[in-house]
Amino acid sequence: WVLMVTAQAPTNIAVIKYWGKRDENLILAINDSISVTLDPAHLCTTTTVAVSPSFNQDRMWLNRKEISLAGGRYQNCLREIRARARDVEDEKKGIKITKKDWQNLHVHIDSYNNFPTAAGLASSAAGFACLVFSLAKLMNVQEDNGRLSAIARQGSGSACRSLFGGFVKWVMGKEENGSDSVAVPLVDEKHWDELVIIIAVVSSRQKETSSTSGMRETVETSALIEHRAKVVVPKRIIQMEEAIQNRDFPTFAQLTCSDSNQFHAVCMDTSPPIFYMNDTSHRVIGCVEKWNRSEGTPQVAYTFDAGPNAVLIARNRKAATLMLQRLLFHFPPNSDTDLDSYVIGDKSI
Ligand code: DP6
Repeated sequence: WVLMVTAQAPTNIAVIKYWGKRDENLILAINDSISVTLDPAHLCTTTTVAVSPSFNQDRMWLNRKEISLAGGRYQNCLREIRARARDVEDEKKGIKITKKDWQNLHVHIDSYNNFPTAAGLASSAAGFACLVFSLAKLMNVQEDNGRLSAIARQGSGSACRSLFGGFVKWVMGKEENGSDSVAVPLVDEKHWDELVIIIAVVSSRQKETSSTSGMRETVETSALIEHRAKVVVPKRIIQMEEAIQNRDFPTFAQLTCSDSNQFHAVCMDTSPPIFYMNDTSHRVIGCVEKWNRSEGTPQVAYTFDAGPNAVLIARNRKAATLMLQRLLFHFPPNSDTDLDSYVIGDKSI
């Protein structure tokens, strides 16, 4: 027999960024972060997990290619879920798996992203959130999404925020064992549903410096990162939560853009410096800044993760349409400066 579960998890985009760890193995951050979860119809991971007595080892396929599960991150997630596994009974199929059986049974995992992996589009966030959620369902784990977020966090820090829709805060926590380092939903996806997110794919190529090694180098070498984590971000988190509660777009946009720029500034302050944005990314920033200034009030916020792609958050559908028109004008298709593609999606789960 084979027992299977399929789940989908959307990616999330941080508006106050996580950058730097205080514990590399447990993945504990040096600051809180806030993100918005995208609509799974646009950028998501679909994962099927299966268990059968005929499987003789844990195996995983990512985008149809087999990958090694040897890395500590997969093992940590699998171990944490197995430790919480419960009895499962499927009467129709005549299957009965006890809590103890799970320790000796192996799983096969098939995971698929509907967007470029590792191009700075937060694929690991959706990936680990989906892996942990689907395994938890398969093994009948009875924990809420907050507890599951602490397990997904051990796969990839940003993954913990993808367990919830809407705006989500990852609380860095104080405990050494990471038990209080969890994702907390701030407002659900209906709270601010006028927002429209456009992702301008500047390049779908794989990024050169992974987030994991990039943030390690920043923590080791940047003189600015401590000030960011201890002084700037705590203030911004409070202001951002308030802006989200009040649907105050000008404050939201100002904080989002400043935080993205500061994240890239600490990357540049790293030795050797890390450049995630390229000339096209800089031109997108210029285009948004100029338009926002000419309107007198921000229409669009921009934010860039560990890659050159622009995530643009428009205050409403009209602003999103005008933004797209501007992008097409400034980066004409089939020109030297064209973009790879656009993804447009409403924020929701
Ligand atoms: C720039 O979560 O990918 O997207 O925890 O090492 O797996 P690891 O890093 P990851 O880092 C994401 C960094 C970021 C900002 C963010 O999502 O908050």
